[in-house]
Amino acid sequence: MSFRLQPPAPARPNRCQLFGPGSNTKLFEKMANSAADVVNIDLEDSVSPSDKDSARRNTVQAINEVNWGKKTLSVRINGLDSPFWYRDVVDLLEQAGDRLDQIMIPKVGCGADIYAVDALVTAIEAAKGRKKRISFEVIIESAAGISHVEDIAAASPRLQAMSLGAADFAASMGMQTTGIGGTQEDYYMLREGQRYWSDPWHWAQTAIVAACRTHGLLPVDGPFGDFSDDEGFRAQARRSATLGMVGKWAIHPRQIALANEIFTPSDAAVQEAREILKAMEEAKARGEGATTYKGRLVDIASIKQAEVIVKQAEMIAAQ
Ligand code: COA
Ligand code: MG
Repeated sequence: MSFRLQPPAPARPNRCQLFGPGSNTKLFEKMANSAADVVNIDLEDSVSPSDKDSARRNTVQAINEVNWGKKTLSVRINGLDSPFWYRDVVDLLEQAGDRLDQIMIPKVGCGADIYAVDALVTAIEAAKGRKKRISFEVIIESAAGISHVEDIAAASPRLQAMSLGAADFAASMGMQTTGIGGTQEDYYMLREGQRYWSDPWHWAQTAIVAACRTHGLLPVDGPFGDFSDDEGFRAQARRSATLGMVGKWAIHPRQIALANEIFTPSDAAVQEAREILKAMEEAKARGEGATTYKGRLVDIASIKQAEVIVKQAEMIAAQ
């Protein structure tokens, strides 16, 4: 084990990030009153180029006027390959009040992308005397992004979270699919004439989780496009949670409860984790480093696994 301890991720719930276009003002109050932990007002791909200026104005006004409660409030700016992003940053930082928590930077390809936004944000914060330091979250959604994921995760102390953006990622990788997350029809193993579907997002997800855990960020699963398919969403979210992700986006309100359900450790899981911790306490008292729990091995590593679940449940309950 490295002598450098793994830094903890920010201790705030991030089970569901609800998106809505900055051009659709009638959604803002609904987003604020939803059960999502994080609200992401979008200035990027859900807003057409002709609406960019008005969406930005709407967003600044909504940040200042809507009661966002305890939510983490984040705005997705336009990508650094667009002519819009600098104006997004300047107007948000100059005109939006301290209720704004976070800026989401899409389509990042390397650590220098974060550096560029950080330099601009830092200068405006100083010039305007802003009291609250804006944090960042990023989307990994390109071949370059996943190739440089560790470099990106280390790029700024402002960074708190990193999401996988399945649709742009698939396009950038040249994947033959138009599905946004979830099972892909042609990604299967064949055995004795039977098809067994595998998970084409697995590698990107685990790469993101590893980079996030190395640098103390929250790893988040992005959108699931088919918002009529609750079971498909649940299955995708369960896989993400199993791999270490802490939450998932909602692109429609019906996905909020599903994300909260999957990313809140169940009572049964918390109880089992507590029992494992108790079994290990008793083993320790007997001078043993390993013992048996329900017929299976538990040891010192099991304590850390169980603590992940208990701590997550306690952090959510404390909100
Ligand atoms: N946040 C909060 N409320 C929302 C919402 C959202 N993102 N999307 C829809 N609603 C509301 C609707 O206003 C409607 O409310 P009502 O019952 O009071 O009339 C209700 O939920 C049902 O909406 P529905 O009619 O099923 O959907 P829609 O056709 O209005 O909108 C989308 C569908 C996909 C266009 C819309 O959900 C949306 O814009 N999603 C976010 C897209 C986005 O931000 N993408 C970028 C990230 S990938
Ligand atoms: Mg995208």
